This record gives sequence, C-alpha cells and structure tokens, in this order.
Amino acid sequence: MDLSGEEARVDFVIVGSGIAGLYTAIRLAGHGRVLVLSKQELIAGNTWFAQGGIAAAFSAEDSPELHLEDTWKAGSRFGDREAISILVQEAPLRIRDLQEMGVQFDCRNGSLDLGQEGAHSRKRILHIGGDATGRELVEALLRKARSLGVQFIENAFVTRLVTRDGCCCGVCFQKGRRCFLLTSRVVILATGGCGQLFKYTTNSPAVTGDGLALAFRAGAVLRDLEFFQFHPTVFFPPQGRPFLISEAVRGEGARLVNCRGEAFMKDYHPRGELGPRDVVSRAIVSEQRRTGGPVFLDLRHLGADFIQGRFPTIYRRCREWGVDITRELIPVSPAAHYLIGGIQVDLEGRTAVPNLFAVGETASTGVHGANRLASNSLLEGLVFGHRVAAAAAQAEPQAAGGADRDSGGEGLPATTEAERECARLREPLQALMWEKVGLVRREEGLAEALRRLEGWRPLLEYEFLVPELQENRNMLLIALLMTRAALWRRQSKGCHYREDSVPGEDLSRGHISFAKEDLQGIFKEYF
Ligand code: SIN
Repeated sequence: MDLSGEEARVDFVIVGSGIAGLYTAIRLAGHGRVLVLSKQELIAGNTWFAQGGIAAAFSAEDSPELHLEDTWKAGSRFGDREAISILVQEAPLRIRDLQEMGVQFDCRNGSLDLGQEGAHSRKRILHIGGDATGRELVEALLRKARSLGVQFIENAFVTRLVTRDGCCCGVCFQKGRRCFLLTSRVVILATGGCGQLFKYTTNSPAVTGDGLALAFRAGAVLRDLEFFQFHPTVFFPPQGRPFLISEAVRGEGARLVNCRGEAFMKDYHPRGELGPRDVVSRAIVSEQRRTGGPVFLDLRHLGADFIQGRFPTIYRRCREWGVDITRELIPVSPAAHYLIGGIQVDLEGRTAVPNLFAVGETASTGVHGANRLASNSLLEGLVFGHRVAAAAAQAEPQAAGGADRDSGGEGLPATTEAERECARLREPLQALMWEKVGLVRREEGLAEALRRLEGWRPLLEYEFLVPELQENRNMLLIALLMTRAALWRRQSKGCHYREDSVPGEDLSRGHISFAKEDLQGIFKEYF
C-alpha cells in the first residue's frame, strides 16, 4: 500500500490479523478495498499460538443442540441463547469453508480426529498438525487473503478512531515515527483481548486491550469485563514467555498430580481433570498452597509415540526447556488467558457507533456467558467474522465532511513528567491486577486495586506519541473498568470468583456495562 501521502482511503479497515480479522477480510474482499492493520508482525497475535482447536458438532453422537447446551452451561447460564445458537449452527458451515480453502484438519482412520476438552459432553475439537492449529490456520488464511487482493500494513499502531457526525469513518495510525490518517466506509476491530493486564498470561505481548480502549473512547459500550478466564495449565520456563499446555492434553488422559505424586482433581470436581477451567485453576493453586510444592501434568502413560504425534509442538517446546514430557512431569500453574466480555455488539458485530464493528475476542456477542467453553473462541472468530463481513458490506458510507472535534479520544499532549510516569506503569499494573483482580478476588483486594489504579488515572487525560506508552494508557483504562466491575459483582459467577461471595445475593444482576459518559460517575461513587 502506498503511504507516501500520509492520507489514504480504502473501503474497509480491519484492525488485527488473527483469525477474526483475517476471515472477515477474506469475506469482504469482493466488496471493495480491504486493508488489514497489524500493530506488530502479522503473526504476532494470539491465534498463531492456539493449540487445542475449533469446536464443531461433527460426530454421529453429536449435534449443534448438544454443543449449545454445553456452551450455555459452561457460561453459567449467563450467555445469550440466540447468539450461541448461531455459533453452533453455523460452525459446520464455517469449517467446510476452511476445508474449501485447503485447510486440512487431522484425521484418524479416514474420519476427522475429534478431540475432547473440558466441559464438552462429546468429542468435537478439530485440530491441525496435532497441536499447531493456530499456526496452520493463520498461514492458510493469509494465503487466501493475499490471493484475493487484501492489503496489509504491519507495525501500524492505531492511535484513534476517526468519527464524523458520531459515525466511524477511519483511523489514525502511527508507523515508525510517522502518523497517517486512513479514511474508510467501515472500521472493524479484531484486536483480541487484554491478557497483558496480568503479570502471568498465555497471551502474546501484543494483546494490551487497545481495541477495547479505542472503541470506548469513540463512544462504544464495554460490558462483562469482570469475566476473565484463567487457563489452568501453563508452563513457566526459567526465561522467556509462559507456554500453554493445551487442555487437549487432559482430554487425551493426562493427569494433574501434586508434589507428592497424588492425583487430586476428583476431590475438587466430579469431572476431574476435565472440570471447568476456573475450578481446575483454583484446585491447582489450592494444592500448591496445601503441599508447599509445585503441581505437575503427567502424560507419561500416554506413550512416547502418541505424545510426539499428537502434541508435537508441546513436546518440542518443553524439550527446549529441558523437560522430556514422554518421561518427565511438566510443572504447571494458571495464567490469564481470555477476556469473556468486550465491546458490546449485536449479532452482526455492530457496536453502538455507526460503521464501527467488532469481532472475535474483543467483541462481546454474548456467546460465552460468564465463562468460555474450550475451543469456542477460534470458532467465534469464524462464525461472527462471516456475519460481520455481510453486514459491513451493506453499511452506508458517510457523507463527506470534517471529522468530529472529539474524534475518539484525543488527549492533552503528554508532558515529560506524564511520559515518565506512564513509562513506569506497566509492571506495577500487571502485578497489581494479578494479585488483586486475578483468579481469586475479595472486596478488600479489589478496593485496594481500584485505589491504586485511581492514583494513576490522571494519565488517561494524555495522548502519548510512543506506542508503548499509549498501550499502557489503554491498559490502565481497561484495568480500571475491569476492577470496578469485579467490585460491583459481589457474587461469584462463571470465571469471576469472589472468595467473599454472599450466597443468594445479587442473583438478578445482569450485565455490567460502561460507556464513556459514565467514566466520572463510575469512580465518584466509590470514593
Ligand atoms: C487450549 O488448547 O487449552 C486452549 C484452547 C482454548 O482456550 O479454547
């Protein structure tokens, strides 16, 4: 794409290059000029690292209705049944689309090799290359998108959504030291969640909640932010990034054992290792505290040939850190994994801002309720990507004219002191969120977190020219809203676990939503 003019126009801008962004781009390719912006390299997001797979009802014993019930129950009966019904009914169609693009799901004896994961009543997880599902998918989708003429710009950090008469009509982005204005008929956010809010996470370093913050500043509504899922089994190498050990490993029969070699999951949930993720995560932490030692995953009984064939990536990565999983135990601990809530959208991905859409983890369609069923997230990107593309293709372009003055959240130019303070923000914020707004929450801890976050709140007033600082500002905003929501929801629900939950209280509480105009009021009430 020619960026020489610093101002350009396309029909559709998609921010984010994971499964949701790429699939939406492919579906829009016949409807105009499509440009995908990625803030790092195209493969830097979470999809690339996805192992487990994609859930869809394919076996003779399965049906979309059973998939719906499992999704609904996993979400603590808080999900939107219409949205879930769309997800599960359209799942097989979208899988066939992928197969037509050349994606080859793993087969056994001539049929799809369907895996098992927690809280699924049937085997329904499709995977590719054993545990390389995300990588294979991104490669196939990129090939297809390029063949259809979709354009890409890497290392493009979106600083602002541009609105005119309240309607989204483009983005401002930074690449290197230059700033660009890109006008478009429609903007689609496919920016993923906000796992980097927490000190320990499975998420890519790129996942800092930028899409959520951009949408919020432009006038969209955020909801269900208190629901954040922690993955139970993450391997923490001595250096480098934490590495997910897929739930599919437990689906194939791997056991969790404490440092005394005792299997313990049956003491915590009747489904043992395949209980809900939040239950398994808390059980691990409880065993670590009770025994004073680590917790391990034990795969050894599955046999070396099976392990290396079914989980080649996990085998190789653990080997790199000196653990031979065919003969040795893998030390595991929970880490932040997936944002259940996000930008509130309708069933075609429309936000409250005309011509601004959201899809994938950054969107809140209601399919996940209060907790997500394993392997429904790649599926959500496909199913709703298809629907978003159909709706976006029909969106009316805006009449020409100048951008709104308050166009999606310009702040004051940052002072040197604000820059310094913002540069120091990330580590203490991540530590605070992990300790006080993590897997187990209590009123006092949440209130303390809110007080400390509130102390940093003046930084929200500034706009920073350095992407890392702007990311910190975005993280601060989402951390404030998440903590506020977690305080408000006094009863445990789904993956929001309040140790001080009062049984019977708050039963009727619906969604907790935030809009820009509430920002002052939200915090005034508490202090
Ligand atoms: C996993 O492979 O355990 C993660 C898949 C998911 O989060 O759905």
